[in-house]
Amino acid sequence: MEFDDVLAARRMVRRYRDDPVPAETVEKIVRVIRRAPSAGFSQGHRLVVVTRRATRERIAECAEEHLYPDRWLSVAPVLMVLGIREDDYHDRYTRPDKLIDGEEIDWPAPYWWVDSGAFLMLLQLAAIDAGLAAGFATVRRTDELKALLGLPDDIAVVGVITIGHPREDATPPSDTARLRSMRKPLDALVRHESWERPG
Ligand SMILES: Cc1cc2nc3c(=O)[nH]c(=O)nc-3n(C[C@H](O)[C@H](O)[C@H](O)COP(=O)(O)O)c2cc1C
Repeated sequence: MEFDDVLAARRMVRRYRDDPVPAETVEKIVRVIRRAPSAGFSQGHRLVVVTRRATRERIAECAEEHLYPDRWLSVAPVLMVLGIREDDYHDRYTRPDKLIDGEEIDWPAPYWWVDSGAFLMLLQLAAIDAGLAAGFATVRRTDELKALLGLPDDIAVVGVITIGHPREDATPPSDTARLRSMRKPLDALVRHESWERPG
């Protein structure tokens, strides 16, 4: 796909058909995990891929699907629960080649969350490349979700990725128009050379 087409197709989709995605396609998407960038190549990403209906329905409950206008988390045939292990970063940044003056760097940004966002985007692009759509839902009931999936204490839940065939009305024009009207002007987001405007 051309990049412009990928960009135009990149929407967080909340309307899916329930027909399954072939296992090979799921596997192809999942494998991008090994190509995802990470600070110091710490590779803190973790993913639980769920296709069983009963488990998907329980994940949808943890993500409070009832708060949305339509069911989408329990309908999408593939859910991927995105996790991150912060300790992978501390393990990596306490290795001799990463120490500064013998100490682990105290980064001003938690790069494990940064890396998770980058990985989320890679997964979404892989889904689009496979002719599918993807969405993302935050989760508040993370303890319940971790217990459901057997996630250990040292893995934090980032959210749930939905993957599947988009419904025909997946991205209605009214929704696109609403986003367009909300889009901040470019110069509110990007400045060149300095954030200050020339006086
Ligand atoms: C970190 C993050 C959290 C999000 N959480 C949710 C969510 O909980 N539920 C949801 O429906 N969409 C969620 N979204 C999707 C955004 O609402 C969406 O990206 C935004 O409205 C712009 O729409 P678009 O991505 O289709 O262009 C989230 C996106 C990101 C990046």
